[in-house]
Amino acid sequence: MEPGFWHDKWDAKHLGFHLGEVNVLLIKYWPELALDNDSSGCDINVFVPLCGKSLDMCYLADRGHNVLGCELSQKAVEQFFSENNLPHQIEPLEPINKFTTEQVTILQGDLFSLAPEQFSEINAFYDRAALIAWPESMRLAYVEQISALIPPKSIGLLITLDYPQEALKGPPFAVSEDWVMTNMSDAFEIELLSCGDALMDNQRFVNKGVPWLSESVYKLKRRS
Ligand SMILES: C[S@@+](CC[C@H](N)C(=O)[O-])C[C@H]1O[C@@H](n2cnc3c(N)ncnc32)[C@H](O)[C@@H]1O
Repeated sequence: MEPGFWHDKWDAKHLGFHLGEVNVLLIKYWPELALDNDSSGCDINVFVPLCGKSLDMCYLADRGHNVLGCELSQKAVEQFFSENNLPHQIEPLEPINKFTTEQVTILQGDLFSLAPEQFSEINAFYDRAALIAWPESMRLAYVEQISALIPPKSIGLLITLDYPQEALKGPPFAVSEDWVMTNMSDAFEIELLSCGDALMDNQRFVNKGVPWLSESVYKLKRRS
């Protein structure tokens, strides 16, 4: 979607995508990446594209990881720090602003204005409601950009939704396993960790009469 769409959502507080708790799939599947057991003892630095004010960043930080989010909306970033009582510093780095607290840094600005040099320390990533935030016409550009930013060998989780797209206007947009495999396999090794029925947990889809909704979790590894 274009930036104005998301700024309007944050202005109007239409934040149906925001969870008031840590995503249960993150809690269930992040340990499967075995990042805590890194034998070299090096820091785990997790990139969270289109992070919003997700509490998932707190979960990752609580696990001892460093988090680097990217979020377009200044309102979202300010709310993340204020709602979690996190004192922070702001550094203007045209065209973005860098918000920093102890273990969480958020680059506030357009993902497409970021450069790979800013991601050299990244070795993990987490995409929830980011890939599926893009309509099909913009999705490949997003995949190309995160593929350019995420360093080789980085490991991450991708969470997607799939449903008959004609039944509902996104976002979130339907992304099938076939789409993921076809369009992301050049850049990532992909393993499907789970795929489950998610209809009853998503009242908006039920209300709109969407006949089925599945949620998938993938383990991804950036190819060298
Ligand atoms: C569907 S929300 C998901 C937020 C978060 N991942 C979560 O799970 O709550 C998508 C977020 O992406 C942000 N966004 C959209 N386009 C962006 C862009 N070009 N660069 C950075 N952030 C963007 C929006 O402001 C919005 O907060």
